Parts: sequence; C-alpha cells; structure tokens
Amino acid sequence: MEKLYAVLGYPIGHSMSPFMHNDLFAFYNLEARYLPFQVKPEALEDAVKGLKAIGVSGFNVTVPHKSSIIPLLDNIDPLAMKIGAVNTVVNQNGKLIGYNTDGPGFLKSLHSLIPDVKDLNVLIIGAGGASRAIYYTMASAGARQIDICNRTLDKATLLIEGCSERVESRVLSAEKASEHLSDYDVIIQTSTVGMFPNTQVCPVRLENLSSRAIVCDIIYNPLETLFLQEAKQKGVKVQNGIDMFVYQGALAFELWTDIFPDIEVMRKNVLNQLGGNK
Ligand code: ATR
Repeated sequence: MEKLYAVLGYPIGHSMSPFMHNDLFAFYNLEARYLPFQVKPEALEDAVKGLKAIGVSGFNVTVPHKSSIIPLLDNIDPLAMKIGAVNTVVNQNGKLIGYNTDGPGFLKSLHSLIPDVKDLNVLIIGAGGASRAIYYTMASAGARQIDICNRTLDKATLLIEGCSERVESRVLSAEKASEHLSDYDVIIQTSTVGMFPNTQVCPVRLENLSSRAIVCDIIYNPLETLFLQEAKQKGVKVQNGIDMFVYQGALAFELWTDIFPDIEVMRKNVLNQLGGNK
C-alpha cells in the first residue's frame, strides 16, 4: 500500500517540502506520497490523532507548530527536546517519535565547507526558532564560543540561558557585532533581515570580516542576500539558505526511509521550484 507522509503548518501554501519529497519518492521508486495540510493551532491535536489513526508513516511540522506538537507525541529525540522544537515525526510501530533536523541539517550542510566546528568561534545573527536550533546543535557539536547578535537583546539572553550545553556566549548589538566581526570563524545569519521584499538591508557591517570566515545566510528568497553578496565580494566562502533547507529535508527523508538521498538531485529540484515560483 502507498505510504503517506505530510507536512502540517499554518499557513502551508508556500511550502516546497511536498515537491522535494515527492520528487525523491519518484527518484527512489518508493510507493509513497507527501501532502501539505493547513492546520490551525487549535486543530493540531485532532490532526495528529487523525494522522496516527490512519497510520501515517511520517510527517513534518512547520510554523507555528514546532513547539506545540511536543506534548502530542509519544517520544522525543534528546536533541529535539533540548531545542524545544520538532520538525520531523516518524511513526515507529504505531508510536509517534519527534526529531529536529533543522539544526543537524544546517551542521551537515556546513561540512562541505568546514569538516568540524570544534573549537570554532561562531556568531549567530537573530534569536528566533532557527537560531535556537542552530545554537543548540553547534553547542552540542563542541563549538568554542557562540555569540548571538539580535535586535532584542533579551531574546538572545533567554536563548543562551535555556541551553543545557555550557558554551561561552556573549549577547551583542548589531553595532558591537560589526566591531568584533574579526573574532569569528563562522557567521550565520538567521534573522529575517534581507529577506524578500526588503532585500536592500544588511544585519551587520562587514568591514571587519576575517579572511578565514565562512558566512552563511539561511534565507533563500533571494538566493543571495545583500549580506552574502557583500561577504562574497570580500573573498570569503559563503553558503545560502538552500543548503540548510535541503539537508533538513534529507535528514527527515533518511529517518523515514533509511536512505540518505542524493543532495544534488534535491538541490536541483528546489532551485527549479524557486525559479518556477518567481
Ligand atoms: P524563525 O523562527 O524563522 O527563526 P523568528 O522567530 O520570526 O524567525 O525570528 C526572526 C528574527 O529576525 C528575530 O531574531 C528578529 O529579531 P527580534 O528578536 O528583535 O524580533 C529578527 N528580525 C526581524 N526583523 C528585524 C529587523 N527589522 N531588524 C533586526 N532584526 C529583525
């Protein structure tokens, strides 16, 4: 029988996950289908019960359900528990198990540029859900220092205090982060600054960027934010948001099927979708 996979979100219209996973099911000749469902927050519990009752094989959850789904599942992977957010659910013999592949997906996407984050100095810009997943994953992976730069300083402080992994961290304004930018080996932009339609803004200034730095932006609309363009002009290695999106999907696909999919096939498909959507 054809297996069912899904993504639950509100809204869900713009999700590229159905294209990405259905394309992979076809590529690997798997009898499976991935469908998007728009689920309001107050309907999440019923939706999860319904999916469980009909024997869903697995599903993704996206904004605004990533935290509220936790009490509705049978078991949570330790890293997802630490992060406080689940984006992937696996049906294991009738039990729903929650995982977070956002942070690990980002880390894996970084591996082609830098094999190990141990002992690195990292700056994360932004203190929302994506920042949290990346901060906790980088802390678990042994980064030496992870500073957070955010418009609202208290949000960054709360994020750091909530992490059980002890790692040296400072909270910085955009001004301070710009001043101290030469301290960092990896800079990860997770805020919405530079995202379509407000593309002509940068979250920090790059004049003090170190030549050894790797600069990442998790935004993929536009594919190259002004921040990445400026970093590229300075000659450093850069990575756009496609990679994190593709790798979080690849890790979910692996949890569901035991196949780690071909990243190039996925990247091509997502780029086609983005091109088609413009
Ligand atoms: P996600 O869950 O996708 O990571 P989010 O929770 O909406 O996103 O977080 C958005 C991030 O972008 C936050 O760090 C936010 O800063 P605040 O914590 O101060 O709200 C940041 N952000 C959004 N608009 C911004 C702006 N105009 N200038 C600076 N930072 C901004």
